[in-house]
Amino acid sequence: MVDQAAVRIRHATDADLLALEWDGEYTRYRRMYNHAMRDSKRGNRVLLVAEVEGEIIGQIFIYFRPSWSRHFPNEQAGYLHSFRVKPQFRKQGIGTSLVHHAESILLKRAYHRSIISVAKDNLNAVRLYQNLGYSIFTEDPGRWSYVDDRGRIQHVDEPVHLMQKCLTLE
Ligand SMILES: CC(C)(COP(=O)(O)OP(=O)(O)OC[C@H]1O[C@@H](n2cnc3c(N)ncnc32)[C@H](O)[C@@H]1OP(=O)(O)O)[C@@H](O)C(=O)NCCC(=O)NCCS
Repeated sequence: MVDQAAVRIRHATDADLLALEWDGEYTRYRRMYNHAMRDSKRGNRVLLVAEVEGEIIGQIFIYFRPSWSRHFPNEQAGYLHSFRVKPQFRKQGIGTSLVHHAESILLKRAYHRSIISVAKDNLNAVRLYQNLGYSIFTEDPGRWSYVDDRGRIQHVDEPVHLMQKCLTLE
């Protein structure tokens, strides 16, 4: 078990980009992460990482201009994505801390709606989000593409639930 006091959640910097690839497991997302980092410098996104003794063990990104916000025309809605915790650090509350941290950033920017998309077969994540107060509001075929680190277009076809939570100051 990790000592919770040793877990630090902070904003990612350029120096973290390689570590976000998790020793090659997520190298294919290099261009997307570089893009997300550029976006964060323009204020359109926040990239949060959880760190223990200098090792990045989890992450969550916040996007402030999601197309999903059309479902909530009367309020500001932010989108949480690229959320993960390294397997050996799971089920210790780190994911929950990352979500709570992201929600507090949304609230500080007067965003009162948080949206997450989750693969329909990712039952553990769906349950976690439900326990954190999220509920399903629509479905999506989850078809999208990205350019991988070698310049090849990769197509993703993963039906998702869109989940939302109304954020309030406690
Ligand atoms: C989804 C994910 C980020 C959750 O991260 P995590 O750090 O395990 O999350 P938490 O520890 O906060 O919560 C997970 C579960 O552990 C439980 N838990 C938290 N602290 C605990 C502790 N000290 N002891 C035992 N259980 C604990 C939580 O209650 C939660 O239970 P639930 O599954 O019944 O809801 C992680 O499983 C992951 O990276 N999965 C792969 C990528 C992924 O699916 N990302 C989401 C895409 S939408």
